[in-house]
Amino acid sequence: MAFLRLNTGVQMPALGIGTWHHGGPEAKREMAEAVRVAVEDIGFRHVDCAHIYLNEAEIGDVLNDLFKREVVKRGDLFIASKLWCTHHKPEHVEEALALTLKRLRLDYLDLYYMHFPVAFEYQGQDVNLPEDDEGRIKMTEDDYVDTWKAMEALQEKGLVKAIGICNFNSLQIKRLVKESKTIPAALQIESNPRMQNDILRRLCHKMGIVKVGYSPFGSPDLPWGEKMPHLLLDETLNKIATKHKTTPARVILKWQLQRGVAVTPKSVFKNELEDNFKVLQDADLDEDDLKAVEKLERNARKLHQVKKLKNGEIVSRDEKSIFYPFKHIETEDALDF
Ligand SMILES: NC(=O)c1ccc[n+]([C@@H]2O[C@H](COP(=O)([O-])OP(=O)(O)OC[C@H]3O[C@@H](n4cnc5c(N)ncnc54)[C@H](OP(=O)(O)O)[C@@H]3O)[C@@H](O)[C@H]2O)c1
Repeated sequence: MAFLRLNTGVQMPALGIGTWHHGGPEAKREMAEAVRVAVEDIGFRHVDCAHIYLNEAEIGDVLNDLFKREVVKRGDLFIASKLWCTHHKPEHVEEALALTLKRLRLDYLDLYYMHFPVAFEYQGQDVNLPEDDEGRIKMTEDDYVDTWKAMEALQEKGLVKAIGICNFNSLQIKRLVKESKTIPAALQIESNPRMQNDILRRLCHKMGIVKVGYSPFGSPDLPWGEKMPHLLLDETLNKIATKHKTTPARVILKWQLQRGVAVTPKSVFKNELEDNFKVLQDADLDEDDLKAVEKLERNARKLHQVKKLKNGEIVSRDEKSIFYPFKHIETEDALDF
C-alpha cells in the first residue's frame, strides 16, 4: 500500500475507493457492496464517503459487518466523510458529524472534510437542497472560517482525527490558514488529465496539505454537467497503457500517485476495482509519459453543480454564493505567500 503523510502525522492510504454513486435505493446497496468487495476481496483501506452521497447508512452496515466478522479492524481502515453545505453554521457542525457517525456506525472519522466553501440555509436534518419558490438554492453568507473553527473543535474532541477541505480555491485556502489555527490536512479537488489543477497541487505541496484528486476518470457517469468525451478512451492514455501493458485507468492513477496526489476512483464493478488496485504494483511512468499526460490539460472542469428550476431552466447551483470558488482563475501568483 502507498501512503501519504498528513500534517497530523497519520499515514493516509494514497489510493481509496470513492462512493459517489448516482441512483436510488438499488444504487446505494450496490455501492455498499462494492465497498465490501474493495475492502474484503481486494485490499482497499481508504473509503471516501459523504453525507450528500446519501449512502452512508448502507456503507455503515457493510463496515459494521466487516468489523464483526473480523475481516479488518477499525484501525486498519481510513474512513473520510464530508460536512454538507446546510450545516455550516457552527452550532450545526457537530450535529452533522453525529449523523454521519451514526449512519456509518463509527465512533470517529479519520478525516472530515468541509464539502464546499458555500453555505445553504439550514432547514433541519432532512433537507439537503433548500429551495426558494423558483427552485433556486437558498444560500447563506455563513463564513467557512467560522465553520472551520467548529470543525477544529471536533478534532480537539477526538471525534475526527483530521480535518480537510474540498473545492476551495487558493485565495480561500490562504485566508483559512491565516484566520484559524489548523492547516487543513487535505484538499480534495477535481483532478484528472484534462483538469489537472496543478497550481493547487503545488500550493498544497508548499503548505504541507495533501491533495486528493477527485473524479480521476472525469466522472463519466455523472448524470448532469457538460458531456465530454470519455477520458479513458483518450488516444494518448491508451498509447501509454499499451506501452506499459496496463490500462488507461491505471495510467491516470499512476500519474497522480507519482506526483504525490491521492486518488479515490469510484466503481461498483469488481473487475474495475481490481484493475484500479493493481496500480500499486505498476512500474512508474517515465518522463515522456508524464509530459504526454501533462499536455492533455484543457482546464475542463466537469463538476459545475447545476440545478433545474421549477420552470425547467438549468442554472449553476452555487454561482450566486459569495464563497463560490470556481470563478477565480488560478495563476502562478497563488504560489506567493
Ligand atoms: N469532494 C467532492 O466535491 C467530490 C466530487 C466528486 C467526487 N468526489 C469523490 O471522488 C470519487 C471519484 O470521483 P467520481 O465518482 O466523480 O468519478 P471517477 O472516479 O472519475 O469515475 C468513476 C467511473 O469511472 C469508471 N471506472 C472506474 N474504474 C474504472 C476502470 N478501472 N476502468 C474503466 N472504467 C472505470 C466507472 O464508470 P462505469 O460505471 O461507466 O464503468 C465509474 O463509474 C467520488 O466517488 C467521490 O468519493 C468528491
